[in-house]
Amino acid sequence: MSAAQRAEHDEATYDVIVIGGGGAGLRAAIEATAQGAKTAIVCKSLFGKAHTVMAEGGMAAALRNVWPEDGWDVHFRDTMRGGKLLNNWRMAQIHAQESPDRVLELEEWGAMFDRTPEGLILQRDFGGHRYARLAHVGDRTGLELIRTLQYRAVELGIDVLMECNVQRLLLDDGHVAGAFGYWRQTGRFILLRAKAIVLATGGAGRSWRVTTNSWESTGDGLRLALEAGADLMDMEFVQFHPTGMVWPLSVRGLLVTEGVRGDGGTLKNKNGERFMFNYIPEFFKAETADSEAEADRWYQDKKNNRRTPDLLPRDEVARAINSEVKAGRGTPHGGVWLDIASRRSADYIKRRLPSMYVQFKELADVDITKEAFEIGPTCHYFMGGIRVEADSAATTVRGLFAAGECAAGLHGANRLGGNSLSDLVVFGRRAGLHAAQFAAAQRAPGAVDPSDLDAAAARMLAPLERQDGEDPYAIQSDLQDTMQDLVGLIRTQSELDEALVRVRSYRDRLSRVSARGDAKYNPAWNLSLDLDSMLTVSEVCTRAASMRTESRGGHTRDDFPTADPEWAKVNVVVRRKDGELSLQTEPLPQMPADLKEIATGEGKATAAAAPQTT
Ligand code: FUM
Repeated sequence: MSAAQRAEHDEATYDVIVIGGGGAGLRAAIEATAQGAKTAIVCKSLFGKAHTVMAEGGMAAALRNVWPEDGWDVHFRDTMRGGKLLNNWRMAQIHAQESPDRVLELEEWGAMFDRTPEGLILQRDFGGHRYARLAHVGDRTGLELIRTLQYRAVELGIDVLMECNVQRLLLDDGHVAGAFGYWRQTGRFILLRAKAIVLATGGAGRSWRVTTNSWESTGDGLRLALEAGADLMDMEFVQFHPTGMVWPLSVRGLLVTEGVRGDGGTLKNKNGERFMFNYIPEFFKAETADSEAEADRWYQDKKNNRRTPDLLPRDEVARAINSEVKAGRGTPHGGVWLDIASRRSADYIKRRLPSMYVQFKELADVDITKEAFEIGPTCHYFMGGIRVEADSAATTVRGLFAAGECAAGLHGANRLGGNSLSDLVVFGRRAGLHAAQFAAAQRAPGAVDPSDLDAAAARMLAPLERQDGEDPYAIQSDLQDTMQDLVGLIRTQSELDEALVRVRSYRDRLSRVSARGDAKYNPAWNLSLDLDSMLTVSEVCTRAASMRTESRGGHTRDDFPTADPEWAKVNVVVRRKDGELSLQTEPLPQMPADLKEIATGEGKATAAAAPQTT
């Protein structure tokens, strides 16, 4: 980029910029603004179009409206057990203690939660949660969360830079100084100076063929953080939601909310067998019904007895479905049946699950109030991400914070459904708070080195300057096949090795990519730039999966089928050293004895109200 071109770019200065406009980004921006920081939200898509809306069934919080027996400690225990004890214990504690307040705050701000007959916020059952704990709005909870936070952000007058794609974080002597990107509509560059930055860019599911993720989820924040010098962690753990649509092919992967099972749906193989009874792991045996009669009693009165195995944590259910299909007991299009019609009335289904009813009617011509429907696992969520300090959401780079799906730690090896919406608001708030405090302690944003802008601009413009070259869509398609086939639900060393060779060859092809045309609303150019992030994340995920020679949560190795106690002690941490990626194991933070007792089930998880926290 010449000095003249540089002089032409747009420029703005803030105390805090939040990159990402989903639940975590919105909540961070609201908090930073409330703390007096001049704040902007930068989102690469339309405002409000975020993966948050794919958390349909609810937001987990021990409100105790349905089960007074619940408490933050029970929620903490469930989260740790669901995460196979690899979670950052402090994040799990903060999350369990603060999520009730965050739900009530949303209610105050206008969220229209479903109600109990007494007028309290209604809570529904979800996998791995001991009690019905998910505050919800039918099956559109994520959408309502976004709507509520958007109104709040608009009310506070927060600047929103929409369809603005950040490509590089700028540092001044190791401190955050700003971000550099472009407007998708015009292709014009923009320099944002800031004292602090919050990354809230979500996950990277778009690198898999069958996914609930929309085009935005390309792992941009993970690449930006890594390049800026921050650590990534737990990148081998990818969640395959057990229930995505499998038919018709055009909508394969689209989310079917866990709320269907929470509200009475059961899984059956092609022979009509409730196969989940055959897949109850030792760990969950004590509290899982082992006969249909017992599960039916639970469905009928939801009394505090053993829960149905259809609601085991997602990793267990996804693997069970995979095994059924592999054993030849799948449905015509390679899934299993999900049946709610034989247990619930049409009225109930339409009231509780209105989107699911319309989704299947419109897209598959199936009436879920009358018949069972086909579902199968779909790539949904990244447990791994940017390593953060639990209380402050600070990364290892000064002035850089991260929250939501792009941050690692809370969910360990496997996230429980419903814990993401509460994660977004609990840690979004903390990231905004600490970013604002950090910004307040700085006199001015750091200096921007013009050569950094030149380098970033040259990298971004390269695909436009090649008339002929590789097609970005072909690279994306090959990548999606590779990650789906070789780094999917079940992994083996030889397949991971092959995946790595292929991902590196796509990197080579990306260096020759051509986006043809100019920078104005050029989807091929946008994809060429997104591919940089997708390939970085895919390589990191594959290498971390190769390194962890055991099976745990969202990482299953066919060649190492059991959990190894030695691997229970460490996270796989990724950082860039001299331009190269380096992976190593680091010990988990030590959990205090009292919490360990609760997490492992040795101590009593009692009905405890959350203490007030700040
Ligand atoms: O199934 C669902 O509604 C998804 C929820 C979540 O991922 O938290």
